[in-house]
Amino acid sequence: MRLSVIGCGYLGAVHAAAMASIGHEVVGIDVDENKIASLSKGEAPFFEPGLPEILAEGIASGRLRFTTDMSEARGAQIHFVGVGTPQQRDGYAADLTYVNAAIDGLLPYLAAGDVVAGKSTVPVGTAAGLAPRVAETGATLVWNPEFLREGWAVQDTVDPDRLVVGIPAGDAGEEAADLLREVYHPSVAKGTPFIVTDLATAELVKVSANAFLATKISFINAMAEIAEVTGADVTTLADAIGHDVRIGRRFLGAGIGFGGGCLPKDIRAFSARAEELGRGESVAFLREIDAINLRRRDRAVDLAVAALDGQVFEKKITLLGAAFKPHSDDIRDSPALDVAVRLRGLGASVTVTDPAAIENARRVHPQLTYVTDRDEALADADVVIVVTEWDEYRRQMSPEHVSSLTTGRIVIDGRNCLDAAAWRAAGWTYFGMGRP
Ligand code: UDX
Repeated sequence: MRLSVIGCGYLGAVHAAAMASIGHEVVGIDVDENKIASLSKGEAPFFEPGLPEILAEGIASGRLRFTTDMSEARGAQIHFVGVGTPQQRDGYAADLTYVNAAIDGLLPYLAAGDVVAGKSTVPVGTAAGLAPRVAETGATLVWNPEFLREGWAVQDTVDPDRLVVGIPAGDAGEEAADLLREVYHPSVAKGTPFIVTDLATAELVKVSANAFLATKISFINAMAEIAEVTGADVTTLADAIGHDVRIGRRFLGAGIGFGGGCLPKDIRAFSARAEELGRGESVAFLREIDAINLRRRDRAVDLAVAALDGQVFEKKITLLGAAFKPHSDDIRDSPALDVAVRLRGLGASVTVTDPAAIENARRVHPQLTYVTDRDEALADADVVIVVTEWDEYRRQMSPEHVSSLTTGRIVIDGRNCLDAAAWRAAGWTYFGMGRP
């Protein structure tokens, strides 16, 4: 099928390349000339495992190309819209500027029978508001939310755990759903659940999934807070409750909490939208989820200050990690960098290292010292804090080796990913999050 993908960020670029990899003819469109230039050369403009390979393959096959020219969307049967919906500067609501601009830009090139499939995460009711404008061209607007995780985005796109398509009532909606079944044929054929809903449900599926995930993380972090005053171990607690299949162990990783371009802004936008709908109280708990999450960053800073007996000034603190999670170079709302900036604000000499995110971090926080080589970053550190659980720190770093580099013997495990017993045995004072 011929497809266009409007917006070539973390979502759109992966979607375009993944659709080409399953045999479709795809044009990716974005207003950012630099991004389009690098994608056109087969270079991923951000770190995403597996993306460079499918980009190169798609471009070489002639099925995948990128442009800044919206008119090249003409002729595609499905136009996916995957632009960003960031948090508004002056509030919690989602900023829909890019979604509106993408739809407006696309309208002149739509033909009767085309399908516009929104993939961006939007406040419930957005699609119904946009649908009449699309319908005037004879095209149909559907909402097809994306559940990809950064770091696993290619796999999540090619082989998702479910497909959700919100359609308007009537024949045009049914035909659009059939077209979507066709575009995702490999997944549909292998039995991946394909859920057809109304527009509002599809929009809500996405925000409620992210709200649930955020709630799960903040729940275990709340238990970490209780563990901290009782001497309990939240990691063992998570293992124990996680054996109950109704609960499950995944997303019960206590630590410095969630960040990134999705969970924080999505729960805030959900709260804002619920307020507009007069149902703020239904998701009032999300404010608490946000607050618990942000308190974990304070906790990591407090642990460092206490470990240094309050004498932070000019102490060398090395932070292992900058990205909001491993396998990503994304630093949007990264708990790791928040902790780094706060410690620097207290007068510490803060050095940050990360396998992928240093360039992005430097652009936003030039006041921090960045060192690419992990061991060089650790040299002479008084305190070591693990803030992103990359394998480089979790698996490939022995406490004995780190002892040969640092001055101090204090390690704060902001992701509860180190072997506490091994670090203690090597002479370190180990602090976990919610662990004795
Ligand atoms: C998330 C959703 O998982 C995905 O379905 C949606 O499409 C976009 O938002 P992503 O932002 O890529 O994906 O990251 P995710 O893997 O969900 O992690 C989010 C944050 O939660 C990270 O900062 C991570 O470190 C943190 N986290 C995750 C925890 O603190 N504990 C956990 O147990 C799991």
